[in-house]
Amino acid sequence: DIQQSKIIEIVELGDERGLLSVIEGNLTIPFDVKRVFYIYGTKEGIRRGFHAHYKTRQALISVSGSCKVYLDDLKRKDNVTLDSPKKILILEPNDWHEMYDFSPDCVLLVLASHYYDPEDYIRDYDKFVEVYGNGIL
Ligand code: TYD
Repeated sequence: DIQQSKIIEIVELGDERGLLSVIEGNLTIPFDVKRVFYIYGTKEGIRRGFHAHYKTRQALISVSGSCKVYLDDLKRKDNVTLDSPKKILILEPNDWHEMYDFSPDCVLLVLASHYYDPEDYIRDYDKFVEVYGNGIL
């Protein structure tokens, strides 16, 4: 299902000192990383995202705490829980996404394939359907 195909489990490198996990562009995840941002200090009850992209691919990792991601690619809708620094969720440009249920200690790390460009956002759901619907709906 969608959850299996989009979640990558990364290896945890541990020794007596603690743990370390690595993500390498074009190796661990299927794109080169041009931009990194992180979402943290999210207030209770907040839901954010509400967009898709034209080009940008993203990898989401909750490096601390947990959150959930609602995904809609017009074929499937799914809710994925990110509750481990070993779990990477890959978002394709055509994945409409909304993040919610952030724990107070959640640090959601996002690796992106492109520099920030507001023009690359599709923030209107009807526009999203127009762009990616392909008459399937
Ligand atoms: P926003 O797109 O509203 O976040 P979300 O999609 O999670 O709701 O981003 C919040 C603000 O940060 C907004 O003013 C745009 C800005 N921003 C950047 O300047 N660069 C970035 O790479 C990102 C992701 C956001």
